[in-house]
Amino acid sequence: MPAKPCTLEPAPFPGVTLVGGGPGDPELITVAGLRALLAADVVITDRLAPQELLAQLSPRVELIDVAKVPRSRFTAQSDINALLIERAADGRCVVRLKGGDNYVFGRGFEEVQALQAAGIPVRVIPGLSSAVAVPALAEIPVTHRGVVHEFTVVSGHLPPGHPESLVEWTSLAALRGTLVLMMAVQNAGAIAETLIAGGRAGDEPAAVIADGSLPTQRTVRTTLARLAEAIVAERIGPPAIIVIGEVAAL
Ligand SMILES: C[S@@+](CC[C@H](N)C(=O)[O-])C[C@H]1O[C@@H](n2cnc3c(N)ncnc32)[C@H](O)[C@@H]1O
Repeated sequence: MPAKPCTLEPAPFPGVTLVGGGPGDPELITVAGLRALLAADVVITDRLAPQELLAQLSPRVELIDVAKVPRSRFTAQSDINALLIERAADGRCVVRLKGGDNYVFGRGFEEVQALQAAGIPVRVIPGLSSAVAVPALAEIPVTHRGVVHEFTVVSGHLPPGHPESLVEWTSLAALRGTLVLMMAVQNAGAIAETLIAGGRAGDEPAAVIADGSLPTQRTVRTTLARLAEAIVAERIGPPAIIVIGEVAAL
């Protein structure tokens, strides 16, 4: 198959394009994502999408921030799905822009399913997930030859033992590779305790990177045992990525 020529022209797609916006720096969106954005009639976004790009959209573009819809960021997913369907139903080019990658804790596939059920054309442009990009921007490689042969990305939005948690924390404790925790700031203490109880060393290196790729990016280096204490002492709030493992001390 001949290679597709790469251009910077707007790329219209009647229907909905899910675009992964990357970790927040406007330069870290993909070329395909930017081309979709340049052709959009409607952009439906939320708080972790690259805000500087949105500010540069043409005034003809209808910009809907679902994080600012009444009831704030708790806009129900069903309301967002309905909005996507409604805006795309007449053939407009709608972009659903999110931070990172839409399929990494982004509920992107629920949107695809809802659009397909409604007969709306949909395509997906992957983004650079903060799970890997944010550690990299803090000079932390998630793998390193001779040090780790695996990295695991885990949501920490529910603490260990929570009845709705789908994470086997004790199994994770038995791994020796890098753990990348997302949405885990609030539950970091409970997670660290469970990992240590399951066999990971309290003095294992850990790092917390907040606001990755933004001018306010900050990195705190600590240990697994002191993770929660460091988060409080350094007043770290979301969005933040926690990296646990030897790579956090390289
Ligand atoms: C709902 S998840 C969305 C993840 C996103 N889809 C991705 O692939 O990066 C939100 C979590 O992603 C992480 N995150 C997203 N952007 C970040 C950033 N710029 N700096 C640090 N963490 C970030 C944080 O752990 C945050 O709580």
